Amino acid sequence: MSSEGMTRLSGTQLHLSLGEGLNELSTTAFSENREEPFHRWVNWIAGFSAAFVRDCINRYMPPGRGLIIDPFAGVGTTLIEAVMAGHNAIGFEINPFATLAGRTKLAALHLSSGVVEELSQQFSQWMVKAIEEDREPQSTEPKGFRSRIPFFSPPILYQVLLLMDFIDDLGDGLPSDLMRLAFGATMVSFSNYSYEPSLGTRPGAGKPLIEEADVTSIIVNKLSAIARDLRRIDPVSRNKWGRSTLYRESFFNCLSKNILGSSSVDLIVTSPPYLNNYHYVRNTRPHLYWLGLAASRREQRKLERESYGRFWQTVRNDRPIALDFDLSEVSSLVAEIRNKRTHKGQYGGPGWANYAVCYLNDSWRFIQLVNDVLKPGGTAVVVVGNHIIQGVNVEVDRILSLLGKRQGLQCDINLLRDKRVGNSITNSTVRRGRTKVNLYEAAVEMKKV
Ligand SMILES: C[S@@+](CC[C@H](N)C(=O)[O-])C[C@H]1O[C@@H](n2cnc3c(N)ncnc32)[C@H](O)[C@@H]1O
Repeated sequence: MSSEGMTRLSGTQLHLSLGEGLNELSTTAFSENREEPFHRWVNWIAGFSAAFVRDCINRYMPPGRGLIIDPFAGVGTTLIEAVMAGHNAIGFEINPFATLAGRTKLAALHLSSGVVEELSQQFSQWMVKAIEEDREPQSTEPKGFRSRIPFFSPPILYQVLLLMDFIDDLGDGLPSDLMRLAFGATMVSFSNYSYEPSLGTRPGAGKPLIEEADVTSIIVNKLSAIARDLRRIDPVSRNKWGRSTLYRESFFNCLSKNILGSSSVDLIVTSPPYLNNYHYVRNTRPHLYWLGLAASRREQRKLERESYGRFWQTVRNDRPIALDFDLSEVSSLVAEIRNKRTHKGQYGGPGWANYAVCYLNDSWRFIQLVNDVLKPGGTAVVVVGNHIIQGVNVEVDRILSLLGKRQGLQCDINLLRDKRVGNSITNSTVRRGRTKVNLYEAAVEMKKV
């Protein structure tokens, strides 16, 4: 990028409070959750760790029971920690698989481990019998699910269809949801696809096809891990827990649908989608179809439209989209992106500028809502990163902070990680003089005074 755009944005009077505040908080990486009880039941891309949420709660929640929300709840990291710390929690999430996983985790926390062990045994015996009898599955592959190569190899598909029969026989309820969570959390591991980091064929990622797998054991192992975590809960502690609701709803509807009131929230801990065009909807297509959660292109398009920032694919062809707010630093940044590689059209600056504008407009809507729903004295902690778009460094943390200040919020930026890997955007390196600009992660702390 030209140094002009860069200096303008970096030159604004922002308080970068390294050495105080959140920089001492636990690491944000969701990968930490792989070690954490309850959170390790299902992986979800790009979030923060449970330890990070616990630190935020200890630091910012006033004494007594309060309300903590996560506007982009994913699989419920913030909500679980809030409830277990004795607070009430509300989450919003539009992805049906993440919502299923988050809701099931929250409900299952109240189960005894014995119930899950019994379910696991029942499933295992049912499968052994069905396979012995060479039973013809009643379930069929989801209509409309397309994959370049067969998603499951034939022997695995047979077991998967039996698993789906078992889930159907359970009817609606928590046991069925637990089975669906176990299936959803493991299905890619025995498929011919993998995340590298987006969903693609295993051969495409240089990996062999998976011809054989013992689906029963994989599901039983997952249920055993869930039962093991539930055994750790002291039943008496449950009496002190708060209540939680995870809405399958866009956060942008939280006021219009009367889910939240103005000045009602003590703490927000959240991480919205990043400005890296990570396509949550496409990447969860197998889960959406095989679990019967969003079984048509139309439903997926609705999800894409509701997604924070939309996606480059959905807006790149539109006429130039304008910013909904007036902030000269941001307008010049967008103009800079728009003027890059114009000959490439939708694949160059013009297409990517449209995506950036949609993202920034949603950021503005988000900050306005944050200001509205927070109680005076309340805090929002928003984890985001910078992104390089068409060679332009977009410091989302700084922009959120500027927008927060415009709303009258007290904002601080706290660097959490000064090196982040992974970027799905092309032309994503930029140098400042001789040094390469790093991708970092930061927490924007916003206080309503
Ligand atoms: C970075 S992830 C959050 C992960 C979460 N912190 C966790 O620990 O699981 C962002 C989430 O925002 C969701 N999302 C995108 N647009 C949304 C909207 N308008 N309202 C609610 N959730 C949305 C995505 O589906 C995705 O799950």
